[in-house]
Amino acid sequence: MKVLVVGGGGREHAICWKLAQSPKVTELYCAPGNAGIAQVARCVPVGATDVEGMVNWARENAVDFVMVAPDDPLAMGMVDALEAAGIPAFGPRKNAAIVEASKAFSKELMKKYRIPTARYETFTDMDAALAYVAKQGAPIVVKADGLALGKGVTVAATVEEAQDAIRAMMADGKFGSSGSTVVIEECMTGPEVTVLAFTDGKTIVPMPSSQDHKRVFDGNRGPNTGGMGAISPVPAYTPEMASRCMEEIFRPTVDALRAEGRPFQGVLYFGLMLTPDGPKVVEYNARFGDPECQVVLSLLDSDLMDILQACVDGTLDQVDIRWKDGAACVVVLASGGYPTSYEKGFPISGLEEAGETAVVFHAGTKLGPQGEYLTNGGRVLGVTATGGTLEEAIAAAYDAARKISFEKMHFRTDIGRAF
Ligand code: AMP
Ligand code: GLY
Repeated sequence: MKVLVVGGGGREHAICWKLAQSPKVTELYCAPGNAGIAQVARCVPVGATDVEGMVNWARENAVDFVMVAPDDPLAMGMVDALEAAGIPAFGPRKNAAIVEASKAFSKELMKKYRIPTARYETFTDMDAALAYVAKQGAPIVVKADGLALGKGVTVAATVEEAQDAIRAMMADGKFGSSGSTVVIEECMTGPEVTVLAFTDGKTIVPMPSSQDHKRVFDGNRGPNTGGMGAISPVPAYTPEMASRCMEEIFRPTVDALRAEGRPFQGVLYFGLMLTPDGPKVVEYNARFGDPECQVVLSLLDSDLMDILQACVDGTLDQVDIRWKDGAACVVVLASGGYPTSYEKGFPISGLEEAGETAVVFHAGTKLGPQGEYLTNGGRVLGVTATGGTLEEAIAAAYDAARKISFEKMHFRTDIGRAF
């Protein structure tokens, strides 16, 4: 099969790395890809959000199957456009990707179907939002409605902080049109766990739990990022918790979306908080998380292509999905200054040595004039290792990560130990 993966970060490298191991995949392409992805797939110069360009390229090159990995093209309807052109595509249609694209939509869905989540109110009027926060008090959580690269959320310790966030979103346009509607939520407490699940719209198969580390500095300090590292599985997510989540959250969500005429085919991302009142949904995403994808796919024993195809064909109940024992850890190597401002173009050394004991997924790299790897993004690499235990996986990931260097490199030293 000729397969095209859409995207160009660490997540897409992990997906390509896994698909390249499938005997079914005879030709693998990635658009736009990156320098690391080019080791396992042919990179295609079409932007991830160029819906028309992607459909045309796939049609002209007789692609058999497209895997749309990032949120933006999903929200724009890339899967719908590919389907309309007769090309099988993995990922939710636009009307289902809305679970991520609109927090207001997903909060209403959860309310209607009694799926546990934080209490909330939605506002389009700034003064009403400011008054609501003053009445509720702090801590309180303020969220921009639309896609804001995971950065549109303020967990405010004081009323002033919450009101500043509301003004930034609604008056100053910090997140463009994403901020014209805000969701204000009760602040929940407890360990945060990600559960990614394959679904064909009817059957849902959760993957091993994982945990992202969103803050840029050790001890969960500093601003939120796209994710600085992850582990899988998460010790706090016990088998009892998993069956409770299946009954109270996962199955009800898939059933709710189908009942609403928005069947979800793809990877459904459950951002959960294990609160003293039980597990609650923090957020849904419509895709693999990044960097959670890197650890979870490192533990997948089965052929990923079989699973993706079954999701598209509606036959997920017939696939036996197996996972490796043990654990995995990814440590993200970022450019100093990320997520605010950072420089690019620094040469990277130690990739080969690190690659002897870990898999180094590239998030933001490009090739220099001599074929050398250069930094080309905020998140640069995701050093991913597996081990018999979580401790072993963490140690192996850090051993490998410490062999890599580039100017102004920054990484957290407490992945898997911060909570
Ligand atoms: P989100 O983009 O919705 O995942 O939010 C980003 C981060 O903000 C989450 O990973 C949580 O750590 C935090 N957060 C979001 N909503 C809440 C909430 N209701 N209570 C406490 N923390 C939250
Ligand atoms: N790692 C969080 C996300 O992909 O949204």
